Amino acid sequence: MPNGTLATYTPSQNHVGVNLTYTKFLFVQVRDDEAIGAKLRTAGSSIARGFFNDFDADGTRDIQAHETIQFFVSDRRTDAEGLAAARYLVQVSGKYRPRLQEVELELRRRLGDAGDVVSLDGAHRNPRYTSAELYEQAYRRAQARQSGRQAKNVFILPMSKTAEWWQMSALDRHAYFYPHVDGKTGQPVHGHARTAEGGVQTLHRRLFHNPDGYERKGEFDFITYFECADEHIGAFDQVHQALRDTSKNPEWAFVEEGPLWRGTRLLRW
Ligand code: HEM
Repeated sequence: MPNGTLATYTPSQNHVGVNLTYTKFLFVQVRDDEAIGAKLRTAGSSIARGFFNDFDADGTRDIQAHETIQFFVSDRRTDAEGLAAARYLVQVSGKYRPRLQEVELELRRRLGDAGDVVSLDGAHRNPRYTSAELYEQAYRRAQARQSGRQAKNVFILPMSKTAEWWQMSALDRHAYFYPHVDGKTGQPVHGHARTAEGGVQTLHRRLFHNPDGYERKGEFDFITYFECADEHIGAFDQVHQALRDTSKNPEWAFVEEGPLWRGTRLLRW
């Protein structure tokens, strides 16, 4: 080290904070389902060109495709608002972010004023709080990806963490993912991973970070994504409820949930 100076540790420069691949969710709220049908289908097949369709993806493929696309349709929910009310959704993923931006522009151009598009960007990163032991428990035993024919159901929940969370040191935040003693009550608690362990073998899960950083005004810090077969829909709701219980998982006190989008994977719109 030159002149005996101490290197400054900058978390954003370590391997954990690096965006490995990008993803973009495009939520489409259409004005009139019947009238827009053909337009939406044409737009869908046009943007899909050159992408591998993830509907048939499962955990058995040796080489994962670089650029993927997947289509979804929501369950009809009358109580939903905003993002959660969007009827159609497409997700594109790849290493080259401008390519995903092109897809967004093309979709917007093709739909014109027939539909509103809301875009959420995410990035896949290395796990930050996961030790080798937690990896064994929460990832290696996890539900492998199944095709959209088997794991039809999708839940997408964008969320942010409070300023108080981000003010804590990374080491202090780390504890919330493990069984620990809650500093506020003095009681032993399960923490995030143990609270959620009922979903490890039934839900296929993905976590995306905001590619541009956290605590950005009007944006989410994370997008969480889950797939499951029909018989495990209840598992998602059960794990989600359990995580919200701060007597088991004090981490959720720092969570600001966005709208939950529920739907089905499709080969095409
Ligand atoms: C199904 C069982 C689940 C397991 C085993 C699990 C496990 C984990 C683990 C081990 C991490 C730490 C990742 C890291 O090292 O960076 C994590 C992070 C996270 N999980 Fe879960 N999780 C589950 C379900 C859920 C659910 C249902 C939600 C939301 C509804 C959720 C939201 C999150 C979020 C937002 C993070 C990132 C938190 C942060 O970095 O501050 N998880 N999860």
